[in-house]
Amino acid sequence: MTAELTARSTVPTSDPTTATTAEPTRVASSRHYLMCRPTHFDVTYAINPWMHPDVPVDHDLVMTQWENLRRTYTALGHRVEVIEGAPGLPDMVFAANGATVVDDVALAVRFHYPQRAGEARHYADWLRRSGYRVVEAMAVNEGEGDFLAIGDRVLAATGFRSDPASHAELAAALGREVVSLELVDPRFYHIDTALTVLDDATIAYFPAAFSPASRARLAALYPGAIEVDEADACVLGLNAVSDGRHVVVAAQATRFAAQLHAAGFTPVPVDLSELLKGGGGIKCCTLELRHAPTATSPGA
Ligand code: ARG
Repeated sequence: MTAELTARSTVPTSDPTTATTAEPTRVASSRHYLMCRPTHFDVTYAINPWMHPDVPVDHDLVMTQWENLRRTYTALGHRVEVIEGAPGLPDMVFAANGATVVDDVALAVRFHYPQRAGEARHYADWLRRSGYRVVEAMAVNEGEGDFLAIGDRVLAATGFRSDPASHAELAAALGREVVSLELVDPRFYHIDTALTVLDDATIAYFPAAFSPASRARLAALYPGAIEVDEADACVLGLNAVSDGRHVVVAAQATRFAAQLHAAGFTPVPVDLSELLKGGGGIKCCTLELRHAPTATSPGA
């Protein structure tokens, strides 16, 4: 409920004597991310509607685009750590699916599809070595792909990948309120393909990706939400990463960028077209390590 209260206080009350702009003031905070180098990225199977194994991947371009994303984060003042990809795990580049990390706790993942199962232990090992307390998962959950922390709560999806039972596990592991939502459009199989957390009280989303009940829940919780259209959702524009002010967003999502700008955020366009062949984008490549422990990371 804290988040709802903050939602209203984020936008300063305009004072006609001092206001120079109608835009709210957005405040950036420096973040800590984990990314996985796409050395072994490829599309060799199809587990979402974006993946076509017959369409070749340009491996040089993937690396260039991924490096550009990494440099974008560091240029914004964020700390980025890198885990190396493993052979035979072509989707491991999608680090958001590696865990859910809040404070010193990391809820490990358990993948829905066997093709990705091997990734779980690489991420759990990295996090353990970096000083996090890793909680093993019993139910299927695909990490931040389906669990998005916002303020003191977590928006958690089910429908295609994560099991509804994982929501209770998440609440128990993190001690946070978990809001369960249902995804209904197979193109938006993870919540991070259909919803962006912009700050502790603000979201952007594509309403049609959610069931009517979930849509109503989101509208009630986040009355100031930005609604994104289908064209921008279909370039995975909502698979974006915000630091509270700068929003790293798919370069192709031009209308969403304009909406962000109008709402006082600073869109930072990045092109990850090669990763889109795997059904992933900017957020998929980014696991946020919230309030990381101070232990030196082996993956840096
Ligand atoms: N090919 C991957 C899969 O279908 C893409 C994962 C994208 N990750 C994300 N956080 N949405 O599992």
